[in-house]
Amino acid sequence: MKRYLVTGGAGFIGSNFIIYMLKNHEDVEIINFDALTYAGNLNNLKSVENDKRYSFVRGDITDEMAVKKVFDENEIDYVVNFAAETHVDRSVTDPLVFVRTNVLGTANMLNNAKQAWTLPDGSFKDGVKYLQVSTDEVYGSLGPDGFFTETTPLDPHSPYSASKTSADMLVKAYHDTYKMPINITRCSNNYGPFQFPEKLIPLMINNCLNHRDLPVYGDGLQIRDWLYVDDHCKAIDMVITSGKDGEFYNVGGHNERTNLTIIGTIIDYVKEKVDPTVSEALIKHVADRKGHDRRYGIDPQKIKDDLGWYPETPFEKGIKLTIDWYLDNKDWLANVVNGDYEAYYDKMYGNRK
Ligand code: NAD
Ligand code: DAU
Repeated sequence: MKRYLVTGGAGFIGSNFIIYMLKNHEDVEIINFDALTYAGNLNNLKSVENDKRYSFVRGDITDEMAVKKVFDENEIDYVVNFAAETHVDRSVTDPLVFVRTNVLGTANMLNNAKQAWTLPDGSFKDGVKYLQVSTDEVYGSLGPDGFFTETTPLDPHSPYSASKTSADMLVKAYHDTYKMPINITRCSNNYGPFQFPEKLIPLMINNCLNHRDLPVYGDGLQIRDWLYVDDHCKAIDMVITSGKDGEFYNVGGHNERTNLTIIGTIIDYVKEKVDPTVSEALIKHVADRKGHDRRYGIDPQKIKDDLGWYPETPFEKGIKLTIDWYLDNKDWLANVVNGDYEAYYDKMYGNRK
């Protein structure tokens, strides 16, 4: 039996990860530690909330005593740190909370794990590991050619990606200085169920369903490399158990598309399946994001060669699963924006019109 401390488990990827792990492994116990910010939603975990192997603790990863209490009360084998502020646009307008959560929070998680896991002789207990869930955005932006490998120089541009890069450097420092067992995963853009509707794919789905403008930043020809969330969960699962100590792993499935292509795919599916009046006429080009990265593209060869990981869900299948999920879960959507999507949308996007 392995006990996982999963931070940020009430968010998009964290909740998918908890569900994935409980479904695919008998011998795991998961403590979900989450502050429940605007992005955290315990409804994501309804399907597992009565599972005896799952428990929830509300807490902030920057809170030294709250994190210490979890380690004092439970023998933790693995930490998987998902907890973060994650929306690039919010980091442009409010950078400090990103530094606090993503940098200070990571330092606090590392420090508590180190204290709990260090033996009297200074070495670490056997079988423990700290996994930092990082992002491809730490590498910056690509031109038309080439891919991010694990040795691509770090070159973050937004306060979000700079805070994630800083966190990665702290994780590396705990490994280099104290020999703490760690891995870092750097994944490309995820999509799937439970993603907060401020991110491109759920935002466009919801706006199509609500006949709202589809706000395209700049020319819409920026490229992201999309991965179905379960494939990211599978990668994290494999890295925790089989990743070589101290290694970083890029995760992605060579699925690059422009934002306009993604939006076109969503329009076509919603039009065919739900509402024939939805069309490209809803697309509205708005002011570009400041410091907008042009292209991300992951080279996943290392995780494929070393751990045998591969993506299982082709985009054509994953995007349909995702849109169908949002269609079937309109209550979830109403709940995450406090029942008033209209007010939420105007607050977030009114100034872009
Ligand atoms: P999310 O915004 O959906 O969820 C973040 C979760 O963290 C929420 O449940 C929130 O309540 C919690 N949280 C925030 N601040 C906290 C704090 N101080 N203490 C405890 N909990 C706190 O995020 P996501 O999209 O699921 O991303 C999860 C992780 O994966 C992040 O570290 C992100 O950088 C990384 N990542 C995301 C993507 C993506 O496409 N979404 C891709 C690669 C990496
Ligand atoms: O690459 C991994 C990263 O992917 C994660 O680390 C981040 O946490 C996650 O938020 C995501 O960042 P992006 O900035 O790539 O995702 P977002 O959904 O915000 O935007 C995707 C692209 O779509 C980007 O080029 C901006 C554009 N966009 C986004 C929104 C919300 C629009 O054109 N219009 C929009 O309304």
